Amino acid sequence: MGTVLVLGASRGIGLELAHQYLARGARVIATARDDAGLQRLRAQGAQALRVDLAQPGSVSGLAWQLDGVKLDVALYVAGLWDADGAATPPTQARFDQLMHANVLGAMQALPQVAPMVEETGGVFGFLSSAMSLISEAGSDAWLYRVSKAALNMAVAAAQPVWPRATLVTLDPGWTQTDMGGAAAPLTVEQSVQGLVRTLGTVTAADRGRLLHHDGRRAERW
Ligand SMILES: NC(=O)c1ccc[n+]([C@@H]2O[C@H](COP(=O)([O-])OP(=O)(O)OC[C@H]3O[C@@H](n4cnc5c(N)ncnc54)[C@H](OP(=O)(O)O)[C@@H]3O)[C@@H](O)[C@H]2O)c1
Repeated sequence: MGTVLVLGASRGIGLELAHQYLARGARVIATARDDAGLQRLRAQGAQALRVDLAQPGSVSGLAWQLDGVKLDVALYVAGLWDADGAATPPTQARFDQLMHANVLGAMQALPQVAPMVEETGGVFGFLSSAMSLISEAGSDAWLYRVSKAALNMAVAAAQPVWPRATLVTLDPGWTQTDMGGAAAPLTVEQSVQGLVRTLGTVTAADRGRLLHHDGRRAERW
């Protein structure tokens, strides 16, 4: 199964990704930003690294912490949610908070991690959302939609720079986590089973695209 990196794995979908890849026999390296998250990862058998993905000074140490490892799968999972709709302008502080965790962290991790994924010809996936698609835009969660659309562009634009890796964005579906809430139709186990299965089917034709958890490929942005 090889080596898997999960960035932002203290709870929710990231923690379950670490769990399911460990169960498949992978070596899992996973990051969290606090002691409780690091402990949860170590208790599962993952190698846990402390990284705050919204802090450039913390992300800049990632390559050094990974120390030349070859990665079969890397996943950027960290994300923040904001429900405010398009009639509510975000404060600068809230804009910075979401864009740092959802976009800046991914853009800073990407050049450090992608060469390690190229070593195996592996897959680097970034947790986006169906809400990122301009073709399906609603007026709710305005800033969140903007951040995930920006993430999609960051990934698609970076793909040609690392041609021996496959870079994709991933829609986990509406999932029962702290972010998704209890009313979501998918359990975290179901969502992650779908993501892991879908990641196993990625081909060169998927480069730069959004893949849904059930294996569907987004036809339009
Ligand atoms: N759940 C859904 O329905 C759904 C749907 C579509 C897309 N997604 C996307 O899937 C991803 C995972 O979502 P989730 O449902 O698992 O969310 P969640 O339960 O709210 O967990 C968010 C995760 O992101 C981490 N994180 C946030 N900011 C971070 C930072 N600065 N540094 C390091 N880690 C950070 C959190 O760590 P801490 O514990 O340290 O806060 C936590 O592990 C997100 O990108 C989300 O946008 C989720």
